Amino acid sequence: MASKLATLLSLVSLLAPSTAAAETVLGVYIFHRHGDRTPKSLGNVNLTALGADQVYQSGSYYRSRYVSSSSSSPILGLQPDIADTEQVAISAAADAVLQNSAFSFLQGVYPPAGTAGAQELANGSTVQGPLGGYQYVPVNLVVSATTSADAESSEWLQGGSGCGKAVVSSNNYFVSSEYKTTYNETADFYQALLPVINGTFGESKANFKNAYTIFDLVNVATIHNKTIPSSSLLTNSTLDDLKWYANTHEWNLAYNASDPIRAVAGMTLAGQILAALNATLTGESATPFNVQFGAYASFLSFFGLAQMPAISEDFTGVVDYASSMVFELVTNSSVSSGGSYPSNDDVSVRFLFVNGSAGLVEPQAYPLFGRQETELPWSTFVTEMNKFAVADTKSWCAACGNSTGVCASSASSSGGDASTSSTGGSDRGNGISLPVAGVIGALVTLVVILGIEGLVYAIAGLKLVKKSTLAGATATSGGAGVAGSKA
Ligand SMILES: *[C@@H]1O[C@H](CO)[C@@H](O)[C@H](O)[C@H]1NC(C)=O
Ligand SMILES: *[C@@H]1O[C@H](CO)[C@@H](O)[C@H](O)[C@H]1NC(C)=O
Ligand SMILES: *[C@@H]1O[C@H](CO)[C@@H](O)[C@H](O)[C@H]1NC(C)=O
Ligand SMILES: *[C@@H]1O[C@H](CO)[C@@H](O)[C@H](O)[C@H]1NC(C)=O
Ligand SMILES: *[C@@H]1O[C@H](CO)[C@@H](O)[C@H](O)[C@H]1NC(C)=O
Ligand SMILES: *[C@@H]1O[C@H](CO)[C@@H](O)[C@H](O)[C@H]1NC(C)=O
Ligand SMILES: *[C@@H]1O[C@H](CO)[C@@H](O)[C@H](O)[C@H]1NC(C)=O
Ligand SMILES: *[C@@H]1O[C@H](CO)[C@@H](O)[C@H](O)[C@H]1NC(C)=O
Ligand SMILES: *[C@@H]1O[C@H](CO)[C@@H](O)[C@H](O)[C@H]1NC(C)=O
Ligand SMILES: *[C@@H]1O[C@H](CO)[C@@H](O)[C@H](O)[C@H]1NC(C)=O
Ligand SMILES: *[C@@H]1O[C@H](CO)[C@@H](O)[C@H](O)[C@H]1NC(C)=O
Repeated sequence: MASKLATLLSLVSLLAPSTAAAETVLGVYIFHRHGDRTPKSLGNVNLTALGADQVYQSGSYYRSRYVSSSSSSPILGLQPDIADTEQVAISAAADAVLQNSAFSFLQGVYPPAGTAGAQELANGSTVQGPLGGYQYVPVNLVVSATTSADAESSEWLQGGSGCGKAVVSSNNYFVSSEYKTTYNETADFYQALLPVINGTFGESKANFKNAYTIFDLVNVATIHNKTIPSSSLLTNSTLDDLKWYANTHEWNLAYNASDPIRAVAGMTLAGQILAALNATLTGESATPFNVQFGAYASFLSFFGLAQMPAISEDFTGVVDYASSMVFELVTNSSVSSGGSYPSNDDVSVRFLFVNGSAGLVEPQAYPLFGRQETELPWSTFVTEMNKFAVADTKSWCAACGNSTGVCASSASSSGGDASTSSTGGSDRGNGISLPVAGVIGALVTLVVILGIEGLVYAIAGLKLVKKSTLAGATATSGGAGVAGSKA
């Protein structure tokens, strides 16, 4: 009976396709991990060729899902082939691995334009840009919690957050009974690994305190080193244990249910996601494609806050290279580019996650906040996110217990306000000014931005307009030497 009804209904919808609600994606926010890289313990961390390919494959996947004219879920109004830099907001910390991942990803999203990008001059000759019409999409710098300069080179990412209470909270893990117990239980395990790691970790450093960096060294070696000293010690079960201990260590530094501020990375990310998606809606898809490259700690903190471990304990593990999570703004009401736009009541948010490069594994939808549905009405999503989102400098300062540096004057909140601009025009990088713009010395920021602009200018002969956010960055200073807490 029920199946007959279903057949009937599907027949009806076949006969009257115009009444069948087709879902439209209005915009996305993608948070992305970098690809394969060199180990942290050797310093000067670099993205590898393998890593560049992983994020490039991911970019190609998202192109085939959202961007190209033959994509499966085209984003309303998004340019399919020639990037409109007003529509695309890409950001990454001032870190070589994250910045380069963003550039490589973009090549997958908007590959060289070829003849489509050629331009005709007054004298009738046609000019195509270099490298087959390589497309230049500026990557904005994020200056906020856990995304400090050279984040990937620091052992524990919280150290760079500059959030006083979060650093204290994470350091408290090292005096917890959980930590001490695991430390003792694993003492022999790590000492037994010395023949493998003693080129980098001596006897006094071969312990659970360095669980992540030891795992990282061995993990990178299993991918890149043809020979590893005493590699016979690296059985599958030893490799599993190494990963397990590293996951335990990093999860506990990133999230503690009874001490929420430890997850400040996820709180600020939530604020950035809300601001960007809200700007997409209020600007009627002015900037529908938002991507941020960041560290695994932000994934873990966010997973904790969004109650993902209730779905699977896997969400307490460090995500693989080139992993991404996506927040899709979707609607079933009829829309048209430049025409009718749905009201917020008709918009839902869908969350997707893929553990590794989306080019290799399909992203999957998961319910957030301990709920059942994989699509939440926009208003519900906002309410749930606002339970932990830190959206501006003022609330960040309050949550972190900071009162100096950027937190000294109330004027500092202007950085956060700028991002609520609904046009999405000149303020493309919604993430930049949120919520602690200028925590890193403005000089570093300027040098990098000017460096990138200079490079683009040199290669493309383009004249770039100075961003208003740049002016914002120069207004703040200090906080550069945030004390690191090396795990
Ligand atoms: C990263 O690249 C820089 C510049 O090419 C190089 O000096 C450094 O040794 C590399 N780091 C590693 C760990 O390979
Ligand atoms: C047209 O102008 C460009 C740029 O000045 C120049 O390189 C090119 O040689 C000119 N072509 C002809 C046919 O004059
Ligand atoms: C916040 O306070 C901590 C501890 O006093 C300090 O180390 C950190 O630099 C401060 N952060 C900022 C952004 O001023
Ligand atoms: C979590 O936080 C509580 C409250 O501050 C603390 O007692 C506990 O030791 C912490 N646990 C870990 C694993 O850090
Ligand atoms: C860990 O080992 C040390 C030294 O053997 C001992 O003093 C301490 O009580 C142990 N801690 C735990 C939590 O087992
Ligand atoms: C590392 O351990 C191996 C085997 O135990 C030993 O031969 C080697 O000398 C050690 N290397 C260092 C730098 O201590
Ligand atoms: C892997 O090779 C690199 C570069 O040769 C070396 O520095 C590193 O110690 C090696 N790792 C292991 C675990 O042997
Ligand atoms: C170890 O794991 C690899 C990869 O999962 C698998 O191919 C291999 O068969 C395993 N080896 C043993 C001895 O279980
Ligand atoms: C979205 O932006 C509008 C206009 O700037 C603002 O009034 C509203 O409070 C914002 N909503 C959220 C959830 O941030
Ligand atoms: C992702 O994969 C890693 C293993 O590579 C695992 O430790 C982690 O739990 C996985 N995370 C999720 C959410 O599946
Ligand atoms: C759109 O309609 C489809 C089919 O009825 C439904 O599965 C989906 O959940 C709807 N999406 C939204 C955002 O309401």
